[in-house]
Amino acid sequence: MKKTLVAVMVLMAGMCWVAASAQKPVAPTGGNGQVERGRYLVEDVAMCGECHSPRDDQGQLDHSRWLQGAPVWFTPNQAYSDWAFRAPPLAGQGSFTDADMIMVLEKGLQPTGRAIRPPMHVYHMSHEDAEAIMAYLKSVPPMRQ
Ligand code: HEC
Repeated sequence: MKKTLVAVMVLMAGMCWVAASAQKPVAPTGGNGQVERGRYLVEDVAMCGECHSPRDDQGQLDHSRWLQGAPVWFTPNQAYSDWAFRAPPLAGQGSFTDADMIMVLEKGLQPTGRAIRPPMHVYHMSHEDAEAIMAYLKSVPPMRQ
């Protein structure tokens, strides 16, 4: 009887362990995990969509045209000679090569090597983060012509 009780308890503990390990989130690296990490960096950390996605009449981000490039919707409170008024499309990685993206995201420079124009941020990301962002951007459907 005692033996049966121990066996049942061991079995239940085993089932709990299996259930707990099934719920463990997959580490966001490699394969689709890389795309998911890129999505997290773009949408929840660096907020690229705030500038690179168009807005509707109410000023809300238009998710049907996600990352398809947009006019900059705010102006600086002091004059900038090099203020950029348009953020280019990033969906499908836009017209940018991987080397361009590495310049922008890791070195904080335009693909040409010139200084980034505001309001685009000057990023100094790790190569791993830049690669995750590229993987995610390539997974976003590019603009329909
Ligand atoms: C605060 C607004 C804003 C945010 C946030 C932002 N961008 Fe930009 N981005 C811009 C603007 C405006 C330009 C155009 C700069 C220009 O024409 O010189 C730009 C340019 C770029 C370029 C082209 C390189 C260049 O400077 O010409 C790339 C690539 C880019 N952004 C990627 C990203 C990514 C990826 C993110 C998020 C990790 C991001 N941007 C976040 C506004 C923004």
